[in-house]
Amino acid sequence: MPPTATTIPPTPIPPTPTATPAAVLAPDPKYANVYVYTIEEQANDGRSLLNVAYPVLENPAINTTLRTLSESFIDEWRTTAAEQEALYQDYLRRTGEVAVSVVANYVQHFDVTLANADLISLSIERYRFTGGTGSTEVTGYIFDRRSGAELGPADLFTSDAYLERLSTLSRQELERRVQTEAAESQFDSPAVRDQWLSGMLEMIRGGTEPVPDNFDGLLFHEDGTLHIQFDKYQVGPGSSGVVTVVLPVESVADLLTPKLLRLLSTVKPELMHTPTPTATPPPAAVDCSQVPCVALTFDDGPSIYTEHLLDILAEHHAHATFFVLGKSAKVQAKTILRMAREGHEIGNHSWSHPSFKELNAEQILEQVDPTNKLVAELTGTAPRLFRPPYGRVTQDVLAAVPMPVILWSLDPLDWQDRDADLVAQRLSQAKNGGILLAHDIFTTTVQAMPAVLTSLTERGFHFVTVTELLAPTVPLPGHVYDHRTAH
Ligand code: NI
Repeated sequence: MPPTATTIPPTPIPPTPTATPAAVLAPDPKYANVYVYTIEEQANDGRSLLNVAYPVLENPAINTTLRTLSESFIDEWRTTAAEQEALYQDYLRRTGEVAVSVVANYVQHFDVTLANADLISLSIERYRFTGGTGSTEVTGYIFDRRSGAELGPADLFTSDAYLERLSTLSRQELERRVQTEAAESQFDSPAVRDQWLSGMLEMIRGGTEPVPDNFDGLLFHEDGTLHIQFDKYQVGPGSSGVVTVVLPVESVADLLTPKLLRLLSTVKPELMHTPTPTATPPPAAVDCSQVPCVALTFDDGPSIYTEHLLDILAEHHAHATFFVLGKSAKVQAKTILRMAREGHEIGNHSWSHPSFKELNAEQILEQVDPTNKLVAELTGTAPRLFRPPYGRVTQDVLAAVPMPVILWSLDPLDWQDRDADLVAQRLSQAKNGGILLAHDIFTTTVQAMPAVLTSLTERGFHFVTVTELLAPTVPLPGHVYDHRTAH
């Protein structure tokens, strides 16, 4: 949505900058009433370079904040440039060799990601290159464009629960990315690959711990997404640079303050009508090495019975894993979103449930990728687990699908016997650590669930997602899992 120029007072053209001759003020090509202030400077015959840009708006308070931030960066550059120059002169004296490259190069960019009459969201990216190494950090800023106040986490989110949510969602997405990379890249041996993967997973865990510093790069975008930007080295090696995870705003809508929802309403009017989350908070994370657990899994949905099933699971505080078909998820997007919101895991069960036996690698991916993409678009998190149609695992499937394969330890044959009592009786035989198969496309299966949940609860079981069941094991692509193994 383009900014509505009529409701924003015009930006008074600031006086011609006098700081340095190289400072320039120009209109932002993308947004009305946003000017770009650029400062270029060099020192010591061009051995140290500075390039700083920041936005200038109609609001003096915002301008002061951004100018102050930028000036501290410039001061830092001056200090660093002087230090580096002294080192360089010393080197020159000793060796007589002229520097081949810049000794201190500082660059600050900004990007406005959303601007309307009420709100402006922008990122400032800073690159510092000193004595042969560079680092990049990125910080998100959100301002109330009328009052000029910077909106911090307390203005954006109703409670600290946002940290857990962003941690979980971004961690899932980043883990999925490295698992895909592990499956698709060449390694000298599986051991080398597993070592690489475990190192990457450790970085991701550290960089996504639910603490404010890890989530200081939040940006709202015009397309209704929330971008989480991680500094270089925060969640991956330097070669990854700044890493971004994109979530639909809906995935955190229940945690946003009314003030922010109001500010975002020109971008996402429907957010104003987001239902309040279910009254019961999700149960604390369950440690399946300490308590009996089972993972209920439902295949082939979502269907017209799934919403009722979600009601039943909520009543019993049970989490489940849904191996969904892309074609059904597409028509029941709201059900998918509800699954994600209520703490269920969404796995991939192909797009249209063909037998994979007749498919080549390319055709297999044509079944798998669009389902991942769709679920990621809907919930902000792509599925991490795959279950092939009919549970048919072949070497071709293991080689082609860059996701761990999840089967089951108990099949109640609910597709064959459409008898709620019989299905309930069979599922109630579950053993600790088991993965239970069921189908949310049969009304009899859904009817069986209250009895299953009641009897297994009486036996002390906790109902967890497959990922929770297998933890701390992180399932790997190319491997098959059908129950929890002891550690
Ligand atoms: Ni199936």
